[in-house]
Amino acid sequence: MPRLTIGDTLPNPEVETTCGKFMLHDFVGQDWVIIFSHPGDFTPVCTTELAKVAAYTERFEERGVKLLGLSCDDIQSHNNWIKDIESYSGGCKVKFPIIADPKGEIIKELNMVDPDEKDATGKQVPSRALHVVAGDKKIKLSILYPATIGRNVDEILRAVDALQKTVNHKVATPVNWKPGEPVVIHPSVSNNQAKEMFPQGYSTAELPSGNDYLRFTNI
Ligand code: BEZ
Repeated sequence: MPRLTIGDTLPNPEVETTCGKFMLHDFVGQDWVIIFSHPGDFTPVCTTELAKVAAYTERFEERGVKLLGLSCDDIQSHNNWIKDIESYSGGCKVKFPIIADPKGEIIKELNMVDPDEKDATGKQVPSRALHVVAGDKKIKLSILYPATIGRNVDEILRAVDALQKTVNHKVATPVNWKPGEPVVIHPSVSNNQAKEMFPQGYSTAELPSGNDYLRFTNI
């Protein structure tokens, strides 16, 4: 069976978390959600990642995004680990739930397994996987890092901004785009349509091919 990826519907298992049990779809509701996994509690890279996410929680909330962590240990371990995370983050609270997945069942369903990484007992552990899910319960963006490489939370925030921009307009975001910078008009939009869709106008880059596909606008 193909593994979970962009465009797929998020599976709907019941999950046990540090904030109680719920079905994943109930947690998503009509909102944007970031589900992100960690190889294990009390591990160094994971602690730095969760501390940074805790510090950025308000920035995600401002964008209407809810956070949901996952690590393959039990709730008691998560609750003890949260004390370390909050200390390392300089007091920023972990206000979002963290799923407990001691049997490694949820990570398989959510395509979050790192095939190369095993714990001390030989059990497969999660990679640093992350899915951005929208209110339609579909996966809009996924990243998959090995356990040894911490993610960049600024990049995750930037990707959320780009997703929210492109979901409402027929545009795409160019390389290294940041909020406030011009976007490009989607290749499926003809020039005639572009004039109607973007009354503010657009500029076209002159290229050796003579093709006018690189069209910038501000929205
Ligand atoms: C860590 O979180 O530091 C980590 C976990 C598993 C493998 C390597 C690093």
